Amino acid sequence: MKHFIEIESCTPEQLKELLKDSSKLKKLYKSGKRDLCLVGKTLAMLFEKPSLRTRISFEVAMTDLGGHAIYVKPEDIGGIGKREPVKDIARVLSRYVHGIMARTFEHRTVTELAEFATVPVINALTDWSHPCQAMADVMTIAEHCGKLAGIKIAFVGDGNNVARSLAFACAKLGMKMVVASPKGYELDERTIRVTNEISKGSVVQTNNPLQAVAGADIVYTDTWVSMGQEAEKQKRIADFKGFQVNAQLLKSASAKVKIMHCLPAYRGFEISDEAAESANSIMFDQAENRLHFQRALLKKLMS
Ligand code: CP
Ligand code: NVA
Repeated sequence: MKHFIEIESCTPEQLKELLKDSSKLKKLYKSGKRDLCLVGKTLAMLFEKPSLRTRISFEVAMTDLGGHAIYVKPEDIGGIGKREPVKDIARVLSRYVHGIMARTFEHRTVTELAEFATVPVINALTDWSHPCQAMADVMTIAEHCGKLAGIKIAFVGDGNNVARSLAFACAKLGMKMVVASPKGYELDERTIRVTNEISKGSVVQTNNPLQAVAGADIVYTDTWVSMGQEAEKQKRIADFKGFQVNAQLLKSASAKVKIMHCLPAYRGFEISDEAAESANSIMFDQAENRLHFQRALLKKLMS
């Protein structure tokens, strides 16, 4: 594994190994011990979009492993691919740092960085996918459910970057996912087709949220308005009516169902405050596991 761009291009064995290492590093972290495997190593973190979790968890992970992280906001470098071509940024950074992490609008920007960099490149969210989130989510599910095989996730909302990466994680790791979205906001057909080629019946699309949550172990949601879609906000809020994760919807789910959200959560829109704050919610465990998964990932790619 040279880069970490897509769950789709990882083997189940690679994903399982990363999950195992994440748990090991989490235990070590909790016991107050450190693994200084990245002493003298630097990670450049390029952002075109805002971030709380990704930025801080990657920076803390680098510090904890003995390395250093440099946060680069778009203005600092005159925009990714604007002041100079993406391929030049990739080659220049490769002469200075030991890894590049990037959060971009276009997915192509991250794949182009990976194509031209001679150091590992990590996808920290693009309009297309969010693989670090999906892996932290899977780690959280394993902790709460004690297994992954056979777990059923109901993803209620937009068939977006978060849903797509989670769908591939489900297909690769033996879970089932039902995506419930309004018409026009479904997961793309290729993702449905390829996930089902990886594991038949692993990912199913519906327009009925009540049906999706029935029998689910996990109910997962994400914002209706992803970063970059702000101009569509009013239309989206209208189109997603009936897709809020709230007490009413959860009546169709088991009383033990876990509620997940990658955060940030827009309470009153995709999720009610009550559902977000309920004892079933495990969203802050998910947020914490970003740190532990990424420590394992950085160790794997950069040490
Ligand atoms: N879930 C997530 O990626 O959060 P940030 O946008 O705050 O990084
Ligand atoms: N789908 C959201 C995820 C934020 C972490 C977005 O892309 O804005």
